[in-house]
Amino acid sequence: MRIGILTSGGDAPGLNAVIRGAVLRGSVVDGHEFVGFRDGWRGLVEGDAMPLARTQVRGIARDGGTILGSSRVSPYREGAGPEVVRAVLAAHGVDAVIAVGGEGTLAAARRLVDEGIPIVGVPKTIDNDLDGTDVTFGFDTAVQIATDAMDRLRTTGDSHGRCMVAEVMGRHVGWIALHSGIAAGAHAILVPERRTTIEQIAAWVTSARERGRAPLVVVAEGFLLDQADDPHSERGLDAFGRPRLGGIGERIAPRIEAATGIETRAATLGHVQRGGVPTAFDRVLATRLGQAASDMVGRAEWGRMASLRGTEITSVPFAAALDALKTVPEHRYDEAAALFG
Ligand code: F6P
Repeated sequence: MRIGILTSGGDAPGLNAVIRGAVLRGSVVDGHEFVGFRDGWRGLVEGDAMPLARTQVRGIARDGGTILGSSRVSPYREGAGPEVVRAVLAAHGVDAVIAVGGEGTLAAARRLVDEGIPIVGVPKTIDNDLDGTDVTFGFDTAVQIATDAMDRLRTTGDSHGRCMVAEVMGRHVGWIALHSGIAAGAHAILVPERRTTIEQIAAWVTSARERGRAPLVVVAEGFLLDQADDPHSERGLDAFGRPRLGGIGERIAPRIEAATGIETRAATLGHVQRGGVPTAFDRVLATRLGQAASDMVGRAEWGRMASLRGTEITSVPFAAALDALKTVPEHRYDEAAALFG
């Protein structure tokens, strides 16, 4: 078979390991051929493809980013759609596609599968908010980067007796904040799933100070203060019609300072969390998912994605990932909150 691979949406450390895993497994073991479509669905609808053989994937599992490039282009954008995709696949002699991406990518893939286009998926997001898999690759790396950053913020906070606020990614969910906050010993973890007042945050910060600690707060970018507390929390849409992100750390820092009297500084980690080399965990997970996706093509498992369940890789329908976001459950948050005060 001739298999096309694309990586779509925001990048995540481990994308190259997926590509390498699929190509090595599929070409060396099963005799498939591979091509890569550049910049996600854009490459597929415009017929922008590159060869993907053993030589192209040599040594790439340890590299961040994606050798194929990525974009947030939809295959349903104006002038595209299933007929265009079908024609491009036929022109390149491609029998099936492995689409590596998050919610938007998998939702588009599901529509295309419904139109008869053979696609399998690999779930991807550093935010870890895709259901249907225990964890997504890239998450572990992002948590490690955020933890390292907070370890650094702690020492400068200590030197100056300041409260330090770290803003991490997570537009809908607080998984990165939760895990990095636990790992770094944060005194408050603020996630979109849980409304928390300035009074509560100030109480945690003050209590840390009373115990002789330099308070450390981690906030997910999608966290919303109560309306009354934060008139800017209605953030509106950006120029592309997407919810406006970021800035909560900078907005919350003066509020904490005013409520506690403790000098407070904020640092927004941003895309640093998506860059650089993947952790060993993410390289292994991504490699296994890539291998599984190649096997799934061999078994014609269209409309399904590779998934980690416990320690095993299995496959689940796209619907398993798309029906609901995987949010931080209450008991996981409460478990972490028990460490704050
Ligand atoms: O969905 C992954 C994510 O990294 C979010 O945490 C973040 O809000 C968003 O992507 C940023 O997207 P972009 O790279 O398009 O600015």
